[in-house]
Amino acid sequence: MSIEIERLGNSFFAEVRNVDIAKPLDAETVDTIRQAQRDHGVLLFRDAHLSDDQQEDFTAHFGTVEFNLRSDVDHIAALGNVDLEGNFRDPTTAQASFLRANQQWHSDSQFFKVPSALSFLRAVAMPDEGGATQWADTRAAWEALPPTRQADLQDLVAINDLQKSRAKTGHNLTEEDRKRWPPIEHPVARIHEETGKRALYVGSQVTGISGLDDAAGEALINELVAHSTQEQFVYTHEWTVGELVIWDNRRCLHRGRPWDEESEARDVRRSTTEGSGPTSEGGLPVDEYARARAA
Ligand code: OGA
Ligand code: MN
Repeated sequence: MSIEIERLGNSFFAEVRNVDIAKPLDAETVDTIRQAQRDHGVLLFRDAHLSDDQQEDFTAHFGTVEFNLRSDVDHIAALGNVDLEGNFRDPTTAQASFLRANQQWHSDSQFFKVPSALSFLRAVAMPDEGGATQWADTRAAWEALPPTRQADLQDLVAINDLQKSRAKTGHNLTEEDRKRWPPIEHPVARIHEETGKRALYVGSQVTGISGLDDAAGEALINELVAHSTQEQFVYTHEWTVGELVIWDNRRCLHRGRPWDEESEARDVRRSTTEGSGPTSEGGLPVDEYARARAA
């Protein structure tokens, strides 16, 4: 049986069927999945039931697998409320408050100078209620803006200050973390290196706009996040154990939804691929598509 790809919802979320991604894949199958990833943005594989090693192998078909700074095993980060043995984490720790920030709209590692390209998230244990994940199509959100508005926004650069964004969820960075992740700039509307299409690139980790005062910057960010996360751009996925979802951090935002963290385990494991950068230079967005073509 050949691979089938079916779009679910409005715009950018698709399910891939008839392929067992736990097994080694031939080049043609990998190409089909990579193309589907470029076309759709978010892909769901049901009944994948991967191990950590299989997830890492699968991720490697899409780029260089990143080392996860806050991981339990090198390339796979356990991002739920339980550790790899299924023990509940202490909810009062810095790690727990850091992870809780995943419930705000964001793009992964947006606080890195060169953020991750793709994320791969697998459901190992899920609560009976709650704990869905939502994605917002920020490319469609950009394309829905009037041309005059796009012209106003396209040269803007946003400031990402991890300390300021994490403070919103009661997490304080250590001195060492502050040095490692100083405030950095990314375009408000990134140009995708593979498709050349722009997508809004704001979210809860973005704290200001270069050249605007704090209040004006914050108002603009809030407005663009609210615009991007309107119902018509959002897909909500209620997980079943064994599933894997891939998303492109350069063209969507995502957030986790709450669940009863005290009594229900939610074990999700993430791997990511390395992006390319920088995304901005000299206070202006880089044309990442042109750069990729020139390389
Ligand atoms: C992530 C993330 C949200 C969730 O894995 O990067 O933000 O629903 N996850 O677990
Ligand atoms: Mn995330």
